[in-house]
Amino acid sequence: MKISSPYQLRTLPAGLLLLLPLLLSESQNVVYAVPQTVAIEIPVPAKDALLRPLDKNLVSWSIQNRDLPIFARSKLLENLFKALSTNIATGQSVRLGGGESDKTTYGSDITITAKKFQSGYYGAQAQGNVTLGPNYFASFKEKYAPDTRYIWCLNLINTTNKFEAAISTAAGVLEYLGDELDLFEIGNEADFYGSKGYRDSEWDASMMLPEWNYIADEVIKNSPNKTVRFMAGGFANPAFQVTKDFDIPGIISAGFQSSRITWYSMHIYPQSGCSGAVTIAPLLEHNTISETLSNYIPQVAAAESVGAQFTIGETNTVSCVGRPGISDTFAAALWLVDYVLFAATIGIRRLYFHATTTGSYSPVIPIKYTLNSENYTAGVLPLSYGAYFVSEILSFNDTLLVTQIEGGNDTDYSSYSIWDENNKLRKIVFINLESYNSSTGGTNTAVPDTEVYSSKEARPSTQVTVATPWEAGQELSLIRLQGPGSNSKSMVNVSGFTLSEKDGLVTSNLVDTIIKVQENGDVVFDLLASEAVLIQYYSDVLANKHPTKSGSKAANSTVSGVVMRTRGANMSISPRLVLSVRLAVSCVLLSALLLFV
Ligand SMILES: *[C@@H]1O[C@H](CO)[C@@H](O)[C@H](O)[C@H]1NC(C)=O
Ligand SMILES: *[C@@H]1O[C@H](CO)[C@@H](O)[C@H](O)[C@H]1NC(C)=O
Ligand SMILES: *[C@@H]1O[C@H](CO)[C@@H](O)[C@H](O)[C@H]1NC(C)=O
Ligand SMILES: *[C@@H]1O[C@H](CO)[C@@H](O)[C@H](O)[C@H]1NC(C)=O
Ligand SMILES: *[C@@H]1O[C@H](CO)[C@@H](O)[C@H](O)[C@H]1NC(C)=O
Ligand SMILES: *[C@@H]1O[C@H](CO)[C@@H](O)[C@H](O)[C@H]1NC(C)=O
Ligand SMILES: *[C@@H]1O[C@H](CO)[C@@H](O)[C@H](O)[C@H]1NC(C)=O
Ligand SMILES: *[C@@H]1O[C@H](CO)[C@@H](O)[C@H](O)[C@H]1NC(C)=O
Ligand SMILES: *[C@@H]1O[C@H](CO)[C@@H](O)[C@H](O)[C@H]1NC(C)=O
Ligand SMILES: *[C@@H]1O[C@H](CO)[C@@H](O)[C@H](O)[C@H]1NC(C)=O
Repeated sequence: MKISSPYQLRTLPAGLLLLLPLLLSESQNVVYAVPQTVAIEIPVPAKDALLRPLDKNLVSWSIQNRDLPIFARSKLLENLFKALSTNIATGQSVRLGGGESDKTTYGSDITITAKKFQSGYYGAQAQGNVTLGPNYFASFKEKYAPDTRYIWCLNLINTTNKFEAAISTAAGVLEYLGDELDLFEIGNEADFYGSKGYRDSEWDASMMLPEWNYIADEVIKNSPNKTVRFMAGGFANPAFQVTKDFDIPGIISAGFQSSRITWYSMHIYPQSGCSGAVTIAPLLEHNTISETLSNYIPQVAAAESVGAQFTIGETNTVSCVGRPGISDTFAAALWLVDYVLFAATIGIRRLYFHATTTGSYSPVIPIKYTLNSENYTAGVLPLSYGAYFVSEILSFNDTLLVTQIEGGNDTDYSSYSIWDENNKLRKIVFINLESYNSSTGGTNTAVPDTEVYSSKEARPSTQVTVATPWEAGQELSLIRLQGPGSNSKSMVNVSGFTLSEKDGLVTSNLVDTIIKVQENGDVVFDLLASEAVLIQYYSDVLANKHPTKSGSKAANSTVSGVVMRTRGANMSISPRLVLSVRLAVSCVLLSALLLFV
């Protein structure tokens, strides 16, 4: 944390700096260049105007349609989804979309087998085009059923036979995905069509509208038994670089507004990996994250002004499949947590993290592969643990709302308070984004090796004191998103929770650290540079289901005076522990009602 402090190393005379390694090694009690303490207060009640709802699918996924069958060749993505979905008590939302959407055609008579789709086969046409048939759906459907829900992006580029490609694909999607389909999109990043030559250079939202409406009308006409809804937008350019009228206020004025459009989306990658230099640093800068996302406040407002919701329909650390040494590090996991929580505080309901089968920005690498004649294994990347930590934040059986803790953020830290609908504080999240490099966990066999940095100093630690309205003596669960260093590519976990690199099953259960609310309502904890902490009532943890190793047992232990409780498959889910008086009363009423049925 770059808070000015009399102890900052860079304020020391240059001559002394040279001596530092010596000085440091000689004394165990050296004061390091970070604030040792942070004190913040959570005002009660939370200001309603600042609270924004947390969608259970806040972290969602974007995968090219032809890639999902390849992911289905191993259990990694399926079991990651299961772990996340157990916590949030709902399935994952997957957008099947990207550049390939606009190259996709469909035929009910195409006989390509499910196995062939799983091999990455593109179809009968030239490489780069995607031909789908009924077996395409069979190639992944059962793997993620029954809870995963899809958004399908239709081909808007191919105008042949009055958009036959889009309309026939929609028929196949509706026939085989059925109720698992949530929304259609029409066209991927259509703001590029003019400059890429798919349309005239003057093509704008008002010229797009009749084409978009024609496809939507036809899809609805062919689907008498299902109410079809759409997500409009899906533009590539960020909100601060809009071309023509290709953003949400722009398309709404052009006429993209109707009861069938329930969501609007834009795409953003904070760094471009297609060209130019990218670095790990911006992943660990809260101010960069919040400034980038704040550009979307008018986009959210526009969507909400017509009764719809706004989502980042495609995103990740670095565009163009990510960058080894950046996207595949623990920094990406910490970034994800701050990125999605800040997004939620400004009304962005969901963020779809783009994944490819071998991209370093993917949560898992599903199968072994060869790249530039090097061989890599399948595996789990740190981003998965960022997503898992968020699923712990979202785990609650009712609506949660979020706001930033005022005074609880700076360049390299940030914090959030999370409330229930009765304006009761439920959870606190504190993210320490200060960089710390470690040679431990510096490689991951699923991704290319990059230079391993190592910080010479001891890892800084900060004591955080949060003034809360919580009742003195209450037992709290504290869990950590942790890893050896922000540059680490492996050995990351959430309080001991790990997933198997082979099949994504839980290999080690989460261990809650139990702390207590102090006499004056303060909650006090330590955290290291590059670490995030989630605190909530332990009784709330018990009230919700969590993924655990099958057959494992819950257990208590005390480690140097600190009480630790391991979650287990047989952990007692005890509703009585969490019943407030109000809930208890409604339960009695409910039982009374049931007696009359
Ligand atoms: C896709 O197929 C069409 C028609 O067969 C062909 O003209 C086009 O070049 C193909 N696209 C790519 C990227 O190969
Ligand atoms: C466009 O769609 C038609 C089907 O309507 C298909 O035959 C043709 O190959 C597609 N063109 C491209 C470039 O994919
Ligand atoms: C719609 O449902 C009816 C009644 O279940 C069925 O007969 C009909 O085939 C369905 N239509 C389509 C297009 O699925
Ligand atoms: C990669 O795997 C292939 C096939 O197993 C093997 O022939 C090749 O030697 C391996 N390459 C390296 C660099 O290990
Ligand atoms: C911290 O958050 C507040 C809003 O709560 C914002 O005004 C301020 O700019 C943020 N500071 C930093 C350094 O991000
Ligand atoms: C860690 O290494 C990165 C280079 O990847 C560097 O930018 C950063 O400043 C280093 N952090 C520390 C604390 O030395
Ligand atoms: C989790 O990470 C911490 C900190 O890096 C480490 O001490 C611990 O051994 C890890 N636990 C597991 C189960 O990997
Ligand atoms: C659950 O775990 C506890 C503690 O390890 C053990 O005593 C109990 O027998 C287990 N119950 C079942 C049903 O396995
Ligand atoms: C752990 O300790 C708590 C509090 O003492 C107790 O309620 C719980 O049953 C214990 N759990 C196990 C698995 O022993
Ligand atoms: C949440 O869980 C508690 C305890 O199990 C229960 O009493 C309450 O009714 C649940 N609330 C909802 C909205 O399901």
